Amino acid sequence: MRWSAISDVFERIAQWSDKHSPQTLFARALIIIVVPMLLLQALSAWWFYSQRGDNVTNRLAILLVRDLRLLISLRSDFPDDEHRNWILRRSAQDLLLFVSFRKGIVRPFKEPEYFDIVAREVQGALNADLKRPFFLDNNIGGGQLLIEIQLSDGDVMEVLVPHVRLTFGSSFAYVVAQLGLALVLFGLAIWFMRRELVPIEHLGVAADALGKGRDVPDFAFSGGTREVRNAATAFHTMRIRLRRSIQQRTEMLAGVSHDLRTPLTRMKLSLALLPDSPETKELADDVADMQRMIEGYLAFARGEGDEEPVMTDLSEILEDVAAGVRRDNAGLDLGWKGDMAVELRPIAMKRCLTNIVSNALRYANHVKVEAVRGRTSIEVTVDDNGPGIPPERYEDVFRPFYRLDESRNADTGGVGLGLSIARDVARSHGGDVTLAASPFGGLRVIVRIPL
Ligand SMILES: Nc1ncnc2c1ncn2[C@@H]1O[C@H](COP(=O)(O)OP(=O)(O)OP(=O)(O)O)[C@@H](O)[C@H]1O
Ligand SMILES: [Mg+2]
Repeated sequence: MRWSAISDVFERIAQWSDKHSPQTLFARALIIIVVPMLLLQALSAWWFYSQRGDNVTNRLAILLVRDLRLLISLRSDFPDDEHRNWILRRSAQDLLLFVSFRKGIVRPFKEPEYFDIVAREVQGALNADLKRPFFLDNNIGGGQLLIEIQLSDGDVMEVLVPHVRLTFGSSFAYVVAQLGLALVLFGLAIWFMRRELVPIEHLGVAADALGKGRDVPDFAFSGGTREVRNAATAFHTMRIRLRRSIQQRTEMLAGVSHDLRTPLTRMKLSLALLPDSPETKELADDVADMQRMIEGYLAFARGEGDEEPVMTDLSEILEDVAAGVRRDNAGLDLGWKGDMAVELRPIAMKRCLTNIVSNALRYANHVKVEAVRGRTSIEVTVDDNGPGIPPERYEDVFRPFYRLDESRNADTGGVGLGLSIARDVARSHGGDVTLAASPFGGLRVIVRIPL
């Protein structure tokens, strides 16, 4: 129970960061490395300063107070002027403490509002170890601390303590060193990360190309991690198998269709020799139907064959299609927006669009074809004002040989392969053909071709 709650929280965090963090693997991997690194740096710096830093300052303050005690004892043991001067000289030289004496009493010590950590430690040490009235001022400038101590003979000992005696090193240098080191490591991380990610990028490009039925660039996958190499090898195998199966399918289709043509022709000849009767007429119609279907298959198989994708101006294909199907009595509007250059197999794509537009012209008298370039794809929309297709039939009409109008008469068309072929072509380009209701009352067919 508890574990599932925890993993739930993590899952939520992951989802949140999925939405709000950069989308490239490179940037994310960097964040995954850099954020913990920075946190670690900050934490260790904080720990160093707050724990060890305090400790060291505390020790230095205690040492200072011991020195002061030594000076006080020396002064009370050797009160004469000669010794006093000697003490002052030596303490300045050897202890870095600048001592002077005056008559009087020390100023009352008042806790200042702002106290730095050094002064606080010194104050603590003086309190604990000296047992004499003292005055402390950390605000005199010059990188010094002023301590006044009441001596027993009515003298006051004034000591100027340079900060060097009380602090360790410069924190600035520490920070600069840390930052410099972090930058160097960061640079190295970027470099190595790039190297690791190049094969993944190549794999992505290749998979994208394969999905769009384009030429798959050969990429070297000698470098990279084992996982990436495995994925690349798997992809490679998949690509070969896919290509082989497509080829096999097309070849088989072409072979079967071709071989069926010969007996069909023979049947037609035999039928022609038979005397006319309603039965032979029916048989002849069926044979003609079969022949049309087989021609359709063959045309499809041939078109798909070995055509390679090339950079093509889709508007030219659209013009071609329109010129091919336009009839005098029907209106066909053609328009496009944006750059129509896209990599595709022109003959196949022309077949796809011709099938769709000729369908529309067959069922309607007004047809509008419009191509729009989007961010990731070009969409060709074919609208007509014909009878349309009921939405529950949208998927059926893509099935081979499926026709809404069951009578295969010559007026209303062919064998029912047009839309299947159109969709097949679009999908082999990584796109699709979908149906919707047209604002003109008829059918809207949308062909999406990825860029
Ligand atoms: N624009 C359209 N308006 C109304 N119905 C349509 C339209 N386009 C297609 N259909 C219906 O979908 C069915 C399947 O179309 P498809 O293009 O696959 O075959 P087809 O046109 O009958 O024959 P083929 O295109 O192979 O000569 C058609 O028989 C028709 O009933
Ligand atoms: Mg058709």
